[in-house]
Amino acid sequence: MKHSVEVLIPEQDILLRVSEMAAEIEEKYKNTECLVMIGLLRGSCILLADLSRRVNLPTQLDFMTASSYGNKMESSREVKILKDLDDEIRGKDVLIVEDIIDTGFTLNKTREMLMLRDPASLTICTLLDKPSRREVDVPVDWIGFSIPDEFVVGYGIDFAQKYRNLPYIGKVIPE
Ligand code: PRP
Ligand code: MN
Ligand code: MG
Repeated sequence: MKHSVEVLIPEQDILLRVSEMAAEIEEKYKNTECLVMIGLLRGSCILLADLSRRVNLPTQLDFMTASSYGNKMESSREVKILKDLDDEIRGKDVLIVEDIIDTGFTLNKTREMLMLRDPASLTICTLLDKPSRREVDVPVDWIGFSIPDEFVVGYGIDFAQKYRNLPYIGKVIPE
């Protein structure tokens, strides 16, 4: 598809918001022994890197891969785990870090599966939310930005696996 990309959320706005969320996360978990920050690959990699470096607490990083949309623009609705966490989370404070919530299927399913492992607590942080697209409800504790139903890329988010490394959130414009 021939397209161009336009800036929707500039880098400085993202980093400011990430810092605000990091400060709130730090405050909420100030008494934790260890906060396990879980990145859902691949989209969350940039947010996890920027967010975790601003949370001044004892933390562990771990990663999970839920089944991807692949190169399609639509959700498959069926979420499978392609790569599980490396470590157990029983009794731990857990924060799931995600780049975007669209239909909610990915986070809803991931959250349900992790809850079965009896973490001490489980919260969710996402950079972007598209509330108008939601099909299943997910309790989200930190939302960076709520956005309209635009096709967005950058800061971890791909279009056919490209653009994840853009430092800003861009909007794809078909030509
Ligand atoms: C995208 C995005 C979220 C999910 C959101 O991931 O990164 O994880 O879709 O959609 P949902 O709320 O409708 O489930 P994708 O499956 O494309 O994999 P990726 O992170 O590797 O790009
Ligand atoms: Mn993803
Ligand atoms: Mg994707």
